[in-house]
Amino acid sequence: MTEITDSRSKSIGIFDSGIGGLTVANAIQKTLPNEHLIYFGDTAHLPYGDKSADAIRFYSLKISKFLLDQNCKMIVIACNSASSAAYSTLLDFFEGRTLFVNVVDPLVSAVTDKEYNNIGVIATKATIRSNIYRDKIKHKLQKANVHSMATPLLAPMIEEGFYQGKISHSVIDTYLGRKEFADIDALLLACTHYPLIKKEIEAYFNNKVAVLDSTDVVANAVYELLLKENLLAPERTKKNEFYVSDYTQSFEDTAKVFYGEEIELETANIW
Ligand code: DGL
Repeated sequence: MTEITDSRSKSIGIFDSGIGGLTVANAIQKTLPNEHLIYFGDTAHLPYGDKSADAIRFYSLKISKFLLDQNCKMIVIACNSASSAAYSTLLDFFEGRTLFVNVVDPLVSAVTDKEYNNIGVIATKATIRSNIYRDKIKHKLQKANVHSMATPLLAPMIEEGFYQGKISHSVIDTYLGRKEFADIDALLLACTHYPLIKKEIEAYFNNKVAVLDSTDVVANAVYELLLKENLLAPERTKKNEFYVSDYTQSFEDTAKVFYGEEIELETANIW
């Protein structure tokens, strides 16, 4: 009994290349307020979206080791680029030592459950290059047409605060105005930065396209797995912790925007 109680009270580790994963962390905190979260943003190495799969795997292994050393019962890979490149490696490497949740599978399930025919996917270069969304969607829903496009300008644009304005409208228009997106009925925002421009994208499509992101669907996947494993925390006794590998005031300021409330970033020197 004591051991079960202890395991339930362990933390959930969450990591991303930087601060975009805070959109996922916030959704988890809202869905599961009793859970203690330890967030790690690898700001020293961002963006992951432009890195090779090998580099992303290396970073993800080291960060997961750091989170495991904090005794995490679960690790959420709150980054699409890292989920694409490193999820299966992490499962193999840390087999039996913790639970892993990626951000790709919940989003794929959300879109295939609804049986959309024409599905658009926008993400970083690393995520699109991996073909993970196209392959997983086609595996579950053969009839679907999947149109994928790397949209590398969006993450830095959002990070610099350029959204809901002339610049973001013009960039969104340039990317989504391409003819392959003319007939989509659903669009996956397959990057953890994009929830901040979800409303603009919905408006771009006159609310006629279902725009899905990896916030609430991932929080629900976390809830379901913890419930299944009997690992839901009964209460939270300490403040959530937020670490970055390279601190700047600018990260701290932007972190608030992504998390939706005031947070304090600390530096963790894991490299
Ligand atoms: N968080 C990353 C993702 O979801 C985007 C930012 C980056 O390229 O590091 O793919």
